[in-house]
Amino acid sequence: MFTIFALVILIALLALALFDVLFAKDAIYKNFPIVGRVRPLFVEMGPKLRQYIVASNNEERPFTRDQRHWIYASSEGKNNYFGFGTDNDLELSPNYLIIKHSAFPLADKHDELYSIPVAKVMGAYRQRKHAFRPESVISVSAMSFGSLSGAAIESINRGCLGARALHNTGEGGISKHHKHGAGLIYQLGTGYYGSRAKDGTFDIEKFIDTVQGANVKAIEIKLSQGAKPGLGGVLPGKKVTREIAEARGIELGETCLSPSSHTAFSDIDSMLDFVELLADKTGIPVGIKSAVGDINFWNDLTDSILSTNRSVDFVAIDGGEGGTGAAPLVFSDHVALPFKLAFSRVYKIFAEKDLADHIVFMGAGRLGFPEESLFGFALGCDMIYVAREAMLSIGCIQAQKCHDNSCPTGVATQKKWLVRGLNPDLKSAQMMNYLLTLRKELLRLSNATGIEHPALICPEHLEIITDRFTSQAALELFDYKQGWGLPSEHDQKEVVSVIKQIQQA
Ligand SMILES: Cc1cc2nc3c(=O)[nH]c(=O)nc-3n(C[C@H](O)[C@H](O)[C@H](O)COP(=O)(O)O)c2cc1C
Repeated sequence: MFTIFALVILIALLALALFDVLFAKDAIYKNFPIVGRVRPLFVEMGPKLRQYIVASNNEERPFTRDQRHWIYASSEGKNNYFGFGTDNDLELSPNYLIIKHSAFPLADKHDELYSIPVAKVMGAYRQRKHAFRPESVISVSAMSFGSLSGAAIESINRGCLGARALHNTGEGGISKHHKHGAGLIYQLGTGYYGSRAKDGTFDIEKFIDTVQGANVKAIEIKLSQGAKPGLGGVLPGKKVTREIAEARGIELGETCLSPSSHTAFSDIDSMLDFVELLADKTGIPVGIKSAVGDINFWNDLTDSILSTNRSVDFVAIDGGEGGTGAAPLVFSDHVALPFKLAFSRVYKIFAEKDLADHIVFMGAGRLGFPEESLFGFALGCDMIYVAREAMLSIGCIQAQKCHDNSCPTGVATQKKWLVRGLNPDLKSAQMMNYLLTLRKELLRLSNATGIEHPALICPEHLEIITDRFTSQAALELFDYKQGWGLPSEHDQKEVVSVIKQIQQA
């Protein structure tokens, strides 16, 4: 019996070898019959083996093993400390951040949610009817239902509700999964999903209906995102399920194009008119999200704000290192400035024209860690957006499969059998734990520098070490003037009093 079995295998292998030598199109198969066929398996397995066995704690990207471990442990409520001291090369790593602690740190005070309200009132400058102070300096950045599964969106929304953080819908409209109670930032991309006429243009009546039908606290017009600036998108008809069609306001199975630029406006002037129109119709603060390329846009925008009675209420800057569901590699790797360069350039333009105090600044681009978000606050951010870090907190394993619908954890796929594994009851608690832990560590860091609120950290508190035994103050490095990066004195006093009230309650 065994001999027959071995003979069958041998004949099959010989046939395969013959096929490879005579007919295979792949040169490797042809030149190395049978053995060459093992190669694709190793190519496929390579990244997985490296992730689990070979890579060091600080090696992988976008997120290192240490960073992922910190998010997993924090979100699962486990011990997120590391033992034995740092394994980073402090003196040998270029651009290494040092936070300068105070000789007299503040006592550790917090409420049970580690609340950190935003230092500015969003919409106050233009006196929007529904101007408000966001309750959390950390919020979840745009990721649509479509790029993420319904169960993932539900988990994020419920987690944000628990942590009193805002949840950005992404450009795919507002689905039932976004309606579990968290405050929403409704994003309008070039497809105007949820506010779209049949021909794909913006429809103000549909917009008003969509805003009124959900817990929308702010509206974000997406100009671009760091991972694919200047690119539109296509949602193939076969991915347009009934639920996605409903959320986006399109036909079931209809292929949907998001053009690379907006049709509701075509320059800064018409963009500001559009911003004011949306704010007038809803009373809700309206902002823009953008990656940073051509800097003239920001010069012209600030000039227009100063010379006319119109303004955005917030500006969200996305770093070129930002994530996406799917993008051409060259756009992710080479288009748009990385966050710190991008943000500091834009902030300086607003600060030089005395406009920075009036605008709420948000930052995104791998900032969902205590030291990274603190860096953002020092440069002038009022709020930090987290996207992939939120995905990690609900179970993403950085398989980098968001673009082919095969995400093994059910986070970034629409395949029912993969989504089945993601339990929103469990994952929403993890999402909330992650947000609370990030705020907890931010409070601790601020207190260690002798300051009550992370937004009151400024570049003077940071130093950057280079690999030549020198270091530079962040103020100098980013060419900031004294006081830049801070909210107005009035807002500083106000937010310290708000945070003290919360902690004493
Ligand atoms: C799966 C996925 C989907 C995204 N969808 C959107 C989107 O609809 N609109 C948008 O402006 N940005 C989108 N982004 C970008 C994020 O909102 C965020 O700006 C970027 O990933 C940087 O944040 P991070 O480094 O914390 O991930 C998406 C990112 C990911 C990973």
